[in-house]
Amino acid sequence: MMLCPDMVRPNMARTKEFRAGGSFFDNFGGVLKELVARLGSAAATGQMRILGRSAARTGLIARGMAIIALGSLSNSLGSRLKTVLGRGGSRARPHPAVSLPEAFPAVDLAVADPIADILDAPAFQPCTEFFAANEAIERALVSPVTQALLFTLVRNIRPEHVIEIGTYKASTTEAICRALYANNRGIVHTVDPYGAGMVFDNLRKWPAVLRHHVCFYPTDSMDFYDLARHEGIRAGLVFVDGNHDYEFALFDIESAARLIRPGGFIIIDNVSQAGPYFAARDFLRNHPRWHECGHCIDNYRPEFPFDPHRTTIINTDACALRSPTNYFVGDRPTTRGQQIVTAGKIDGISLAVAEPATGTLYLQCVVRVFGTPPTEATIENTVTMSGTHGATRVPLQWKFDPKDVQFARTAELWLGWQGDQELELAEEPNLF
Ligand SMILES: C[S@@+](CC[C@H](N)C(=O)[O-])C[C@H]1O[C@@H](n2cnc3c(N)ncnc32)[C@H](O)[C@@H]1O
Repeated sequence: MMLCPDMVRPNMARTKEFRAGGSFFDNFGGVLKELVARLGSAAATGQMRILGRSAARTGLIARGMAIIALGSLSNSLGSRLKTVLGRGGSRARPHPAVSLPEAFPAVDLAVADPIADILDAPAFQPCTEFFAANEAIERALVSPVTQALLFTLVRNIRPEHVIEIGTYKASTTEAICRALYANNRGIVHTVDPYGAGMVFDNLRKWPAVLRHHVCFYPTDSMDFYDLARHEGIRAGLVFVDGNHDYEFALFDIESAARLIRPGGFIIIDNVSQAGPYFAARDFLRNHPRWHECGHCIDNYRPEFPFDPHRTTIINTDACALRSPTNYFVGDRPTTRGQQIVTAGKIDGISLAVAEPATGTLYLQCVVRVFGTPPTEATIENTVTMSGTHGATRVPLQWKFDPKDVQFARTAELWLGWQGDQELELAEEPNLF
């Protein structure tokens, strides 16, 4: 579920947005219809539970606010996001009075650790002072340096999408939005299953032009990541600051890594706590192509599972991880998850091989049709490469039964590789 608060018209009785007395299907029907169309009825029923559960948990239905999200979802989540982006990008700005730091460090993102350069730059000081003096810092659970760092990263990356897991009072969301506003592009997707009323109370106080850059999801990160995957969101920066138990933090980091852009950043807060710290450490162990900007992962002191002196980003409690600039395939098969198929057939996959590759590529595609009953089938191909480089097409053929084309269909592509080095791809593999 998504709430884009720039949809809230000032002084409008919010309950008017909710069709009072309408049945559950009247008010939620758009969402259900969309999901039926996109995912098939079985999947839609599952999503319906999610929406109902989230709305009930946050008490939004009672407040008459949920329809703001549901209306936008029923118009299609994807086009809604584009609408918000379009407004941010092309409209003349009616309220130019959003205050911004007087300076921030512009850094070379091509270096391995631009965060060290940001922290060392003289311009980082006034940037931090801005956030220290901003009244929103009173509502933050992070330091002004953390907000200045996130602001500076967003200013430099100029991302289309930023994700914040754990909104709390939307203070850090606001810092990120200031950077997106200054960039004149981008959305921060901020996610929190608790305290939606509190979030809205704060978002309503923002200048409207800042709100154009935020979408709030009053749900948990698992719901959100599933939506984000369906929408094909690729983020330049993810701020992981939700549930700090190890298992939750690890899920949030792993899920962020699946949708991060090459060279993107995951900033993990509260690494003084063992949960986020070990989640970051285990993630790096399992993904050796990622690296830490800083050295907190090396800073483990066995006598202090909770260790406030762990971070190397001074005056924060954060750890920064950076994704590789290309996609790597090794002997353990990898997937980006299920993708929706709209064509009546699959012919193969296209690969952009970044470095000459010698070895064997194992491809498997799991094809699912969400009919009654749902069906599942697989296609396999094994390809030998010898110095292969550049654009490469590999056949992986499947023709849907014409009677299945009416149903939602997905393809889940798995790639494995055995060679002298990992297979390096400049782009995600694409089905064609
Ligand atoms: C440390 S606070 C976030 C602070 C905020 N990012 C800031 O900078 O001020 C953690 C937030 O995560 C939220 N949270 C807890 N479990 C969550 C989950 N599964 N998914 C997303 N957010 C969650 C909590 O409700 C809480 O508001």
